[in-house]
Amino acid sequence: MQKMFLFIWLAMINVATALNTKDWMFRIPDKYSTTNISMPGTHESMSRYGGETTQCQNTSLTQQFDNGIRFVDIRCRHLNDELLIFHGPVPQRATFDDVLKATTEFLAAHPKEAVFMRVSEEYTPENNTKTFAQAVQIYVDRYPIGALYKGKGYPPMSEARGKLVVLRDYGGPATFGLPYGDMDIEDQWQIEDLSKEEIQKKWNAVRGHLEKAQLGPTGTMYLTYSSGAGVFAWPDDVSERLNKMLAGYLGDSKAKWGMIAMDFPNAKLIDMIIDSNV
Ligand SMILES: *[C@@H]1O[C@H](CO)[C@@H](O)[C@H](O)[C@H]1NC(C)=O
Ligand SMILES: *[C@@H]1O[C@H](CO)[C@@H](O)[C@H](O)[C@H]1NC(C)=O
Ligand SMILES: *[C@@H]1O[C@H](CO)[C@@H](O)[C@H](O)[C@H]1NC(C)=O
Repeated sequence: MQKMFLFIWLAMINVATALNTKDWMFRIPDKYSTTNISMPGTHESMSRYGGETTQCQNTSLTQQFDNGIRFVDIRCRHLNDELLIFHGPVPQRATFDDVLKATTEFLAAHPKEAVFMRVSEEYTPENNTKTFAQAVQIYVDRYPIGALYKGKGYPPMSEARGKLVVLRDYGGPATFGLPYGDMDIEDQWQIEDLSKEEIQKKWNAVRGHLEKAQLGPTGTMYLTYSSGAGVFAWPDDVSERLNKMLAGYLGDSKAKWGMIAMDFPNAKLIDMIIDSNV
């Protein structure tokens, strides 16, 4: 009998934690600007294949959303008029349709949440009859219009809920989204090796940008990549070091950090970023 109670109690705790990260944005007041909060994100969100030199994540997009991730970084190769997910030359066994399906399904199930998505072109295009911008528009048009943010500036939470805000990291026309280049971005990703100096150099860039984000005007959206890589520094080794430094820096402080894009973020680090919201 006691065992039974213990089991039910543990199951309830599990449900409570899961709900927390699946639906954390409901706590953010409607009138707050989406630039005025802290959002955990992932770098190369779909990069799970290709070995240690290429892999940046170990969870699916849906798992990332469930864990609380609200900024994702999507790289598409334009090939035979299709958009395929690539990391450099390495295919990631998914299409842009898979990405949009997972995202719109998550938002439909969690209508108080919002997802910010960088979309950019990766690797060499081949055999296309359309431009990259036209291809993205065609894919996006297959999904319910209501799921896409079509406003002009960074929305307040009230207008972002249930929406996908595409951050267009490519040229050409679109009926949706905001320009990626308008954000204040730290993405100094090249890391020579795993020496103390190289890791410290990257950390200084991250910390400097987080300080800037914390104090910066609410009209600006800040995006800080804690990820980095190089021939002698693979993403998992770099993130192991940088994520630890990031966790130490964030502590339990309350601040607006903007969006923080990470490789292999663990649940605790994601929770820390969510919890830094007032
Ligand atoms: C930004 O957040 C602070 C609390 O951290 C709040 O007092 C302020 O009203 C917010 N402003 C906007 C524009 O969202
Ligand atoms: C481009 O199209 C040609 C003709 O259909 C095909 O043989 C070739 O494999 C395509 N290239 C790629 C990279 O898919
Ligand atoms: C993914 O990597 C993170 C960081 O190393 C780890 O905490 C987590 O357990 C891993 N998740 C899976 C599903 O392997």
